[in-house]
Amino acid sequence: DHSAAQPTGFKIFVGRVVHSKSLTHLEILPDAAVGVKPDGTIAFVDAQAGTLDDVRARCVAAREAGFHNAATTVLKRSQFLFPGMVDTHLHAPQWPNLALGMEGNLREWVENWTDPMEASYSDTAKARRVYADVVKTTLALGSTTVAYNSSIHADATNVLADAALKAGQRAIVGKLCITTGSTRGNWEEGTEASLAASEKSVKHIRTIDPRGRLVHPCIQPRGGPYCPPDLMKGLGKLRAQHDTYVQAHMCETPSDISRTLEIHPGFDCYSDMYKANGLLTSRSILAHCIHLQPKDIATLAATRAGVAHNPNSNTCLRDGECRVRDLLDAGVKVGLGTDCSAGYMPSITDAMRQASNVSRHLALHAGDERYILGFTELVYLATMGGAAVVDMQDRIGSFEAGKKFDALVVDVEGVISADASLWAEGGEGDGLAMVKKWVFLGDDRTIRKVYVDGTLVGGHDA
Ligand code: GUN
Ligand code: FE
Repeated sequence: DHSAAQPTGFKIFVGRVVHSKSLTHLEILPDAAVGVKPDGTIAFVDAQAGTLDDVRARCVAAREAGFHNAATTVLKRSQFLFPGMVDTHLHAPQWPNLALGMEGNLREWVENWTDPMEASYSDTAKARRVYADVVKTTLALGSTTVAYNSSIHADATNVLADAALKAGQRAIVGKLCITTGSTRGNWEEGTEASLAASEKSVKHIRTIDPRGRLVHPCIQPRGGPYCPPDLMKGLGKLRAQHDTYVQAHMCETPSDISRTLEIHPGFDCYSDMYKANGLLTSRSILAHCIHLQPKDIATLAATRAGVAHNPNSNTCLRDGECRVRDLLDAGVKVGLGTDCSAGYMPSITDAMRQASNVSRHLALHAGDERYILGFTELVYLATMGGAAVVDMQDRIGSFEAGKKFDALVVDVEGVISADASLWAEGGEGDGLAMVKKWVFLGDDRTIRKVYVDGTLVGGHDA
């Protein structure tokens, strides 16, 4: 239980540090030192650590005295420090459906698998069992921040928020809103009930984490087809009243778009509908954004709303390929999401692999190699891109003084090849080959320690 336990003591990590400085700059510091204050804030990142005595001497001389007896972790040559990853879109109640129901398209999947499963969370005891596992597993896979979708139930949603806070995970949590467009027992809430339950969940989260240390409330219209104009308008008002995040689906399939425009007369563009209802701000997360009009892209850029790119899900449901390059070129914020259980794998390293493959298929179909996402870009999307999408680019996503220490200690020893020293012959110096091997070949055993806000909350060795 980390909810009561504030981080204690000063910490210093010495060794290889890997993080994004920008979309085009992956920085690898082979011999760095990172100092973390008792409140979880990074005090310094020294590019050249020198000896341990050097590190300690500099700490004591130049910074807070507490560092002279800091708990010091010296990483092995097979290890590196990597920023905690951000999953910008995961449906917690769909967890038991992971890897199931991949036969259908979006509509069939929602009707046959998703709605019946989500409806079952009227059972709050079930929510307790499932959500504890969701939080623990995603932490073990390196997701230190997750933007969660829940079900329509306020009580189960509050259980999810409690679970994240208790486990020490940074999370955005909201009650899903559906009053129409669903076929199976998932939508019996009326507009007023949906708004009241949303507010109840916002207030609960503000009560359990009043300063927003880890858990943040979110307004969640599932998407245009599921929330008629009166509900959408009410949700926009709630967002403004409580200054919350927004999470919703947008432009996932052509029928998602046509049904949205049918239900919301007066709009010829999906994003215009969200914007008119006051639902697009720098803390809005829009999942998918595959079939966009140029106008949608301009609106995303102007409002600073971010895109959750969910390549695993988009492949499984055959939704199409998000044109990430076009979004980045237009200055739209993009991060990676697992979209479990439409995506089958709750891991952001998996999302990096899938984003790489989807971008290559897109390049083939579009006849344009510009669409290929390079390795440096994949790391950015998984960390800094996600941090920007959840509007925490000043708080998390990389190792900078003043940011929070959300970090993974990764160890590639024994990944696929038993002799990791062979990788030194791969032709990429300074550990880049090691990081690539980890992203493409590693699994959860490589994630030895997981820190959120300076506190050890998970990992294989925890
Ligand atoms: N559209 C409506 N609901 C969902 C969902 O849960 N996941 C995805 N991918 N798309 C949706
Ligand atoms: Fe989704």
